[in-house]
Amino acid sequence: MGKIIKNFSEYQQQYSSSIKNPEGFWDEIAENHFWRTKWEKTLEWRFDGEGSPEVKWFINGKLNITENIFERNYHEKKNQVAIIWEPNNPEEEAIRITYHELFEKVKQFANALLKTGVKKGDTVAIYLPMVPELVIAMLACARIGAIHSIIFAGFSATSLADRILDASSKILITADGGFRGSKEIPLKKIADDALSDCPVVEKAIVLKRTDEDVPMKEGRDIWWHDLIKSVGSDNEAAEMDSEDTLFILYTSGSTGKPKGILHTTGGYMVYAEYTFKNVFQYSEGDIYWCTADIGWITGHSYIAYGPLLAGATIVMFEGIPTWPDAGRFWQIVEKYKVNQFYTAPTAIRSLMAKGSEWVKKYNLDSLKVLGTVGEPIDEDAWNWYHDIVGNNRCPIVDTWWQTETGGIMISPLAGITPIKPSYATLPLPGIQPALVDPEGNEIMGNNVEGILCVKFPWPGMMRTIYGDHKRCFDTYFSLFKGLYLTGDAAKRDADGFYRIIGRIDDVINVSGHRIGTAEIEDVINLHPLVNESAVVGYPHDIKGSGIYAYVFCANLFDKEPELLEKEIKAIVNVFIGPIAKPDKIQVVSELPKTRSGKIMRRILRKIGEGDATNLGDISTLLNPAIVDEIIKGAKVVVRK
Ligand code: WT7
Repeated sequence: MGKIIKNFSEYQQQYSSSIKNPEGFWDEIAENHFWRTKWEKTLEWRFDGEGSPEVKWFINGKLNITENIFERNYHEKKNQVAIIWEPNNPEEEAIRITYHELFEKVKQFANALLKTGVKKGDTVAIYLPMVPELVIAMLACARIGAIHSIIFAGFSATSLADRILDASSKILITADGGFRGSKEIPLKKIADDALSDCPVVEKAIVLKRTDEDVPMKEGRDIWWHDLIKSVGSDNEAAEMDSEDTLFILYTSGSTGKPKGILHTTGGYMVYAEYTFKNVFQYSEGDIYWCTADIGWITGHSYIAYGPLLAGATIVMFEGIPTWPDAGRFWQIVEKYKVNQFYTAPTAIRSLMAKGSEWVKKYNLDSLKVLGTVGEPIDEDAWNWYHDIVGNNRCPIVDTWWQTETGGIMISPLAGITPIKPSYATLPLPGIQPALVDPEGNEIMGNNVEGILCVKFPWPGMMRTIYGDHKRCFDTYFSLFKGLYLTGDAAKRDADGFYRIIGRIDDVINVSGHRIGTAEIEDVINLHPLVNESAVVGYPHDIKGSGIYAYVFCANLFDKEPELLEKEIKAIVNVFIGPIAKPDKIQVVSELPKTRSGKIMRRILRKIGEGDATNLGDISTLLNPAIVDEIIKGAKVVVRK
């Protein structure tokens, strides 16, 4: 169904027709979906000028995305397993949910939300662990036209509160707690802390997962199981316009607070399903497993929407790769005979470090496709994944994309596109990348490097930043007129294949999580002794990037530096979450600044990398002598 590419020449043909006639190309794909009313016009767009960006796909089309997951495929799919849920603890029983059962649960919870007072267009904050109810909650929102705003359950109370307030969510869906490896995360307690700052939240729906004793606030908190008790499962989906908001998802940028990236219904649906089917070459009966958390875009598009629209059977895993031991992923692959496996380089690197024996213990013959996403994968990790996990016979799809792009943009199609270690290879049909120089001129030809931009809209792209359209323009469309700025640099080799080099802005990628350095600095600066700080990324074997914080304190009084470090880590933990905790903290007597007062991060990055052999021109610094002092006190051996 819908253009599934089967060989490389088909890819080339489809790519060229998608560029010559994008509207016709996407029309044909969208026709495979169920629309209550067909769209009148395929595309209107503007990346530049008054009010831009303005991007509308499938204009005036009416639909509901859950009707495309459930009603559209009901007869063929109702008895097929939709979700195989594998709990954190291998001793606990797994759960299988068919499409019919999932449909019933989604409709029932949709009714429960309506009963709670949620209306079409409201935003619902979801802060849940990786349990099936997370999928049920998100689809129930979509069913009634409420906008889900899912917040990764590893975020702190402050981060949760910021996101609830920014999106004015009146409802929060959470759980008593969550299991992750040997830890129990007290989600309700964190949520309670967050809610004390969020008077906007009228109701909190609480799922029982860990059975921990949690206080329930009278009039506000209600147990999930109590709420659904008296609710039936007859529910007709709300009719949505193609351009009605489906969800918002917060992500970090180089400045300011996280942005609520907003995706709409029609285009996102078409793009998520199309890219899932083509990249992973999913076929009927396959078992597909994406190890991401639904709190990130990968989970939205390639655990939930893409695969479920395609009628796939997915594995959903509550736990972590290294618990109870480093064989956990491979044990699950063997147990369910997983065919497509999609994970992040950071997981691959950490498992590689534990040794190949863990992989060899299990039978992984079922695997057909291996995927990676989230950060550049180095050749070592790529080769280990390919040779040891894939036994030299599974293509690797290195998928480059972003929260903002909604779906995969540059990637091999499994088994179709020739692959090369550390290359994301070629753009998917409909995607028009451009490499540009710092002045914004497109760099033509091959064997070149530049800033990666996109020239033409695709259906799955973000439409705006929630509540701040100007910020959307300023962040993504203002640097180079008429181009979407990705924030990454890339190389195009002699064959026209793309290799993603990494971010060009102050965004770092820690264990596949995207974090703005400014966000961490703002939090570190909250420490009463810290006057100023500068955070940079440095190469880290497992995490990809580690976090190195330089802090300037005018007066330490009697504070021991070790204690200060501890406190700074604790503050970051509380205000953002454990993923943003600095690995290294160096107290400096001054930060290297130019005469105009700008911190020269380039120097701090170099020192953090342990390489001061080529610091470049430091003569514009107010106090060049500080550089040597920082090198001496560095938390790493620095070559000079
Ligand atoms: C940033 C987007 C897309 C889902 C996960 C991350 C980096 C993503 C790759 C890849 C090299 C990659 C980029 C991008 N990135 N995929 N295959 N190779 N880098 O989504 O949190 O929005 O982060 O992740 O730097 O801009 P995100």
